[in-house]
Amino acid sequence: MVEAKLPTHVAVIMDGNGRWAQKCGKTRNIGHIEGAKRVPLVVKHLFSRGVRVVTLYAFSEENFARPNEEVQGIFDRVAEFVEGFSETFGDVRLVFSGELEAVSGRLCAACRQAELTTRSNAPFTLNILLNYGGRSEIIRAARLFSCDSSSDADFRSGLYHPELPDPDLIIRTGGEKRLSGFMPYQSAYSELYFSDVLFPDITTADLDAALEDYLGRSRRFGGIKTP
Ligand code: FPP
Repeated sequence: MVEAKLPTHVAVIMDGNGRWAQKCGKTRNIGHIEGAKRVPLVVKHLFSRGVRVVTLYAFSEENFARPNEEVQGIFDRVAEFVEGFSETFGDVRLVFSGELEAVSGRLCAACRQAELTTRSNAPFTLNILLNYGGRSEIIRAARLFSCDSSSDADFRSGLYHPELPDPDLIIRTGGEKRLSGFMPYQSAYSELYFSDVLFPDITTADLDAALEDYLGRSRRFGGIKTP
């Protein structure tokens, strides 16, 4: 049996805000407001369990296909979160992955400022995927890649945050069993955990169940089980 080891990097695909709102007879933006309220609980709980890097999938390139009002609602939630970040999280480093310059000016400026202010914070990092496309990230890295190299490390240097370890565990709430373009290069050997819980309903017990499940996995990275 491979010794059980806590994950270093946990990612959360925060799905189900819209269905949560529908269930309660509220607008989709209320669902995002309730989802955003759960974010500090989720991130702090994972850090308290020894996870060093948390990634959250906040907004994909494809999410621009949603009505403007909803897109703006999500951006407003992220802006509020970023503006209150240091007060809520203290010495946590905040980074973003995605084409930030294409989101609204206020949000982009707040994100870049937060990256700068928190850049020396350690040992915890929160990585937020914003206007992120998994295929776009690979194309970006490929464009920066030298034809003379065939090294993984050289290719990775063109990813948004090559310094971050690959996600060990990816949790998706909301019942769908897919990755929806989530970090395709970095997730090659990630363990996947799908939960039916809608993101605004997520609790620390749900996170513990995912971590517990992860501890029972045998990660072999293409090798064989050692006795
Ligand atoms: C997917 O659920 C959720 C999103 C596209 C937005 C996630 C954003 C937040 C949780 C709030 C802001 C983020 C931060 C980091 C503060 P969905 O709306 O597609 O749900 P559905 O599948 O039920 O319709």
